[in-house]
Amino acid sequence: MSEPFDVIIIGAGPAGYVCAIRAAQLGLRVACVEKRETLGGTCLNVGCIPSKALLQSSEEYEHTRLALADHGVIVDGVRLDLARMQARKAEVVEANTKGIEFLFRKHKITWLKGAGRIVAPGQVDVGGTVHAARHVVIATGSESSPLAGVTVDEQRIVSSTGALTLDRVPDHLVVIGAGVIGLELGSVWRRLGCKVTVVEYLDRIVPGMDNELARHFQRILTKQGMTFRLGCKVTGATASDTGVTLAMEPVKGGPEEELSADIVLLSVGRRPYLDGLGLDAIGVALDERGRIRTDSHYATNIPGIHAIGDAIAGPMLAHKAEDEGVALAERLAGKAGHVNYGVIPGVIYTWPEVATLGETEESLKAAGIAYDVGKFPFTANGRARAMGAVDGFVKLLADRATDRLLGAHIVGPDAGGLIAELATAMEFGASAEDVARVCHAHPTLSEAVREAALAVGGRPLHI
Ligand code: FAD
Ligand code: NAI
Repeated sequence: MSEPFDVIIIGAGPAGYVCAIRAAQLGLRVACVEKRETLGGTCLNVGCIPSKALLQSSEEYEHTRLALADHGVIVDGVRLDLARMQARKAEVVEANTKGIEFLFRKHKITWLKGAGRIVAPGQVDVGGTVHAARHVVIATGSESSPLAGVTVDEQRIVSSTGALTLDRVPDHLVVIGAGVIGLELGSVWRRLGCKVTVVEYLDRIVPGMDNELARHFQRILTKQGMTFRLGCKVTGATASDTGVTLAMEPVKGGPEEELSADIVLLSVGRRPYLDGLGLDAIGVALDERGRIRTDSHYATNIPGIHAIGDAIAGPMLAHKAEDEGVALAERLAGKAGHVNYGVIPGVIYTWPEVATLGETEESLKAAGIAYDVGKFPFTANGRARAMGAVDGFVKLLADRATDRLLGAHIVGPDAGGLIAELATAMEFGASAEDVARVCHAHPTLSEAVREAALAVGGRPLHI
């Protein structure tokens, strides 16, 4: 057995690496086990960062091709160099993963390279050597969920990982699942010239998001050229050298139908990745969806073993995973870490972006809470007009009795940036009037947020 650590964290994604950094900042001796060649987990290697790199590049391409002429900027002969676009994505990923290596060195965090297996509470085997620690943290993340009859080969039938590395633009991409991955990566390939059909089981896209927002978002994506087949169940997929044939049928019943595609992207959700951890042997309890069961302090049922990130309940988001990493590290160091699950923004990085926070109209109705709605469209925002980005709106939900902000939903330019102000406001328990009385610079998109806050009280100025 090697020199003991205070904490061994298994997995160096946003949950694990951030937990490691915070624990080291607080003076704990930290090791982090990672079996990938690079640090950063799904997020930096095959998730958030490469997808945002391709979203940015494909947006530049489409913007140059379709939008610049309207600004009086004429660019002839715009061409796609997909190999360069992919190489740039790889460079962005490498810079980020190397950045985490630097942070590990800076904070004297030991990277135990290899797969970790918990052999007993406080003991983790990595490549045949058992390492000891007072605390073990499981931060092993998630993997793409499978679908019966649709076998992912990462060539013709791909998960998000394969969809991020295609070396040519397909003629027809069929996406199974109108969730975040399907709409972001579907947008990338549509912008690069591909026909995109999205097949969704439910009769709406982005389940869980505010209905009005989702409907508006779907209209925008349809206008951009994406085709939606809602209420459709995929029953099988047959891949050949030339393409894929999907069998599908209406969820409500009806004749089966076939759909041909060059590439199929399976994106019907993600599930915790716990393979090889040895959890059965030591009796770590899971919930009904295969996630590690923890209490509100991230402790599992086995003393000394904790879990955070995609491996436990809650939204599968990098910033949620990071915040849990910080909160747990602080608790392990004897402090009082905490995550407010009511104020975790969710952003879809399409054009325009979609950002949501807190309660939706549907969740408030279900809870019987009376609320007021304030809405403001980007068509009435001067900066959005100047940008030529008028699709979408800001919608705020406030408690009818107290005016306290309960939810914020934005579809529009830089929605992901705009939601931060509302997250801060909600963390401080602000009312809609509080936001409305803050001076917002003119002309900025943030004025639409203020106007929506004014609209809660029935007094927007510019509409
Ligand atoms: P992970 O990032 O999955 O990291 C877990 C790590 O543990 C992995 O590196 C894995 O190799 C390692 N590991 C597993 N088992 C072992 C073992 N036994 N021993 C050693 N190492 C092990 N979220 C956002 O908030 N914003 C986005 O824009 C966004 N975009 C995404 C795009 C895509 C295509 C995908 C797939 C996901 C995206 N996500 C996004 C979700 C985000 O990536 C996850 O929520 C986040 O990575 C979860 O962090 P984690 O640390 O819990 O797990
Ligand atoms: P998701 O949960 O967002 O969407 C899955 C979609 O598939 C849902 O609309 C669901 O109704 C549908 N579906 C499920 N079974 C189906 C079936 N049999 N046939 C057709 N449709 C079916 O999952 P997704 O897009 O795979 O993303 C996984 C996770 O990754 C998400 O939870 C998200 O939090 C995270 N992520 C976050 C991003 C961001 O923050 N921008 C970007 C990408 C991923």
